[in-house]
Amino acid sequence: MEFSIKSGNPEKQRSACVIVGVLEPRKLTPMAKAIDGSSRKTLSKVMRRGDINGKTGDALILHNVPGMLADRVILIGCGRERDLTDRQYRTIVDNSIRCLRQTGAAEATTYLPELNVKGRDCYWKVRQALEVASNATYEFREFKSKKHTRDRVLRRLTLMVPSRRDLRAGERALADGRAIANGIRLARDLANRPANVCTPSHLAAQAQELARAHKSIKVRVMDRAAMHKLGMNSLLSVARGSHEPPKLITLEYRGAKRKTRPIVLVGKGITFDSGGISIKPAQAMDEMKFDMCGAASVLGAVSAIAELGLPLHVIGIIPSTENMPGGGATKPGDIFTSMSGQTVEVLNTDAEGRLILCDALTYSERFHPAAVVDIATLTGACVVALGNHATGLLSNHNALARDLLNAGDTSGDRAWQLPLWDEYQKQLDSPFADIANIGGREAGTITAACFLSRFAKKFHWAHLDIAGTAWTGGKYKGATGRPVPLLVQYLLDRCPAG
Ligand code: BES
Ligand code: MN
Ligand code: ZN
Repeated sequence: MEFSIKSGNPEKQRSACVIVGVLEPRKLTPMAKAIDGSSRKTLSKVMRRGDINGKTGDALILHNVPGMLADRVILIGCGRERDLTDRQYRTIVDNSIRCLRQTGAAEATTYLPELNVKGRDCYWKVRQALEVASNATYEFREFKSKKHTRDRVLRRLTLMVPSRRDLRAGERALADGRAIANGIRLARDLANRPANVCTPSHLAAQAQELARAHKSIKVRVMDRAAMHKLGMNSLLSVARGSHEPPKLITLEYRGAKRKTRPIVLVGKGITFDSGGISIKPAQAMDEMKFDMCGAASVLGAVSAIAELGLPLHVIGIIPSTENMPGGGATKPGDIFTSMSGQTVEVLNTDAEGRLILCDALTYSERFHPAAVVDIATLTGACVVALGNHATGLLSNHNALARDLLNAGDTSGDRAWQLPLWDEYQKQLDSPFADIANIGGREAGTITAACFLSRFAKKFHWAHLDIAGTAWTGGKYKGATGRPVPLLVQYLLDRCPAG
């Protein structure tokens, strides 16, 4: 979808549809008032008749409003003005786009960025509106014979800012929002693709595609032999049961001077997680094609920052393989020596994410990182603890954790911190090796992070468990693109001012 920014009065907009907010109880927003004034009180009358009260979820499509150059006016309920939080604003924009899509309008003009959201400026409101609208119109139809669900699709959205003075902030919001929305879309597309298409080789090809599109990105892909040479036996232990060749993908984005230490993003790229010999139940196993959402978010974030040309040094590392049973597959009890030299007893082959991430973490040491953030659909326990609202965050460095939590709040892609206390470490004791790959029933998300922490001693590190947030089931089944917004916000916040 295309986005543009403008300022000006609603009655003057030549558009297929103008969107304005109405508040509870039956209160017009400034731009709705403007329409009311030039339409002989059409909106006041509609409200008085009780057709719309301003409650969240209310929406009304009006045709042929007098005095308007636009074909339609959509009134969107915004709730009470004092309850207008970040989340409420996003819901309102989402509702407006879903309502808009029921019309035949291919283009629209929205005044929702004029709403007062507590503590948020014009930049924030425009960027959020863009991202929400982009997400709401996303469809994954690569594998449908009919490429569109409707004959008429929404192609253009003009975001209106209150005054000409806001245009500069608006333009910046537009550029940032577009790049983030593109990154989200890339992540969603990759994750939604089935595992027979989105293989480790496919992820590698996608990374190379990014390098072709941006001169600032360099990509290196390691195969099984190269990984073997580096001693990545933990990663390779997961690949043993699969016929798909595993890949270790490294992307380097350079928008800053050579000497700056990089921020490293490590994304779990299990393109299908059957569980291996510790095989999963059949119920919903198809969803394990999403087990590469961490990898997808790294590709999405790197693509966004390259599009923006951020003055940063960022490295993306994607360990990628299938986790399958097979004659050569790892068996419960098998022991491998990881790249770090620590030996690992694989008690459950379904706890494979940590086995590929640990070698990727050790590998990231060679880049002398300023910080390492790994992103992984790591534990079902995280879904139990936090549901699908918050990403789990664990870290060995408080300042890093705080920066990520803040980035989540700003971007509306929130994380919640769990403790990484030493007390939990002993759950990983093994009678036969240095460490076991599972820590028992209790605190599964924390013990998974404890496992990773053993390989992250040499740098500031944070772990994002996105098992609950990376995709949704049910009616809107599919990848969400999270945590691309959080990651890009974190990186935007790291840019030197100016
Ligand atoms: N990819 C799964 C985690 C997962 C499960 C994410 C369900 C989203 C929904 C991971 O590889 C896994 O299987 N984890 C196990 C770990 C256990 C064996 C210690 C789990 O969470 O059950
Ligand atoms: Mn698993
Ligand atoms: Zn997994």
